[in-house]
Amino acid sequence: MSGVTIKTIQSWKNKKKFSAITAYDFLSAKIVDKSNIPLVLVGDSASMITYGYDSTVPISMDEILLITRAVTRGVGCSLVVGDMPFLSYQHSIAIAVKNAGRFLKEGRVSAVKLEGGIKVRKQIKSIVDFGIPVMGHVGLTPQSVNQFSGYSIQGRDVVSAQKILDDARAVEESGAFAVVLECVPLELAAKITNTLSIPTIGIGSGPHCDGQIQVFHDVLGMISGFSPKHARQFAKLHKNILGALKKYNSSVEKNNFPNLSHSSSYKTNIIDKLK
Ligand code: KIV
Repeated sequence: MSGVTIKTIQSWKNKKKFSAITAYDFLSAKIVDKSNIPLVLVGDSASMITYGYDSTVPISMDEILLITRAVTRGVGCSLVVGDMPFLSYQHSIAIAVKNAGRFLKEGRVSAVKLEGGIKVRKQIKSIVDFGIPVMGHVGLTPQSVNQFSGYSIQGRDVVSAQKILDDARAVEESGAFAVVLECVPLELAAKITNTLSIPTIGIGSGPHCDGQIQVFHDVLGMISGFSPKHARQFAKLHKNILGALKKYNSSVEKNNFPNLSHSSSYKTNIIDKLK
């Protein structure tokens, strides 16, 4: 797969389903790139997964830029999108443009993502006007978890469904190249997908979106005892990694590791010559 651009992603609207995934470090990014997944998001979910915070709210620009640089060093072909952290774009257009620019200049991504619809239309338009592609994000927007009082499906009644449709339209009208639809009923996702001319990328929003995005650790089964309803575990890495680490630990304790094949030795007698 040659270098994916926003044009590539847009050309797949109504033609080809595509996947997207998060990445938070160099090695995972290299594996994702090899897998032909065309879009990599350095998600603010790194707040929990990489930094151990309890939500996406605390992560800072500096924290996400640090890992963004690692991810872009690992990616050759896929389009890398940087996720703008909470309060890095909401309260001022100038700050939004400055921080989006940092993602490109320091993080070396090709686009940024930000949460919200009508409320952030000016930010999206200004960032795009400065030549920075923007991916929108509507429905469940986790940076507003305190406002939502949790992570539940959004748009369950006519009023809230209409608001999400209006938000998605605002994102498109402001110049975004694609929009993430998080945790909305599949019928609403279908309606938005058919209404917009930009691709929709769903997470927990059913099969009718143009693309799908998932969290790396969810699809690889890396988180013990937790799998969100919208994720399928394509591997059970937590179990495999834990099993391997236990074997390593007990091999060392039993003096089964390392053995001679893991070691190097002198060809001549050096030790006796030491004073
Ligand atoms: O940060 C994140 O993980 C996201 C999801 C939409 C994948 O924003």
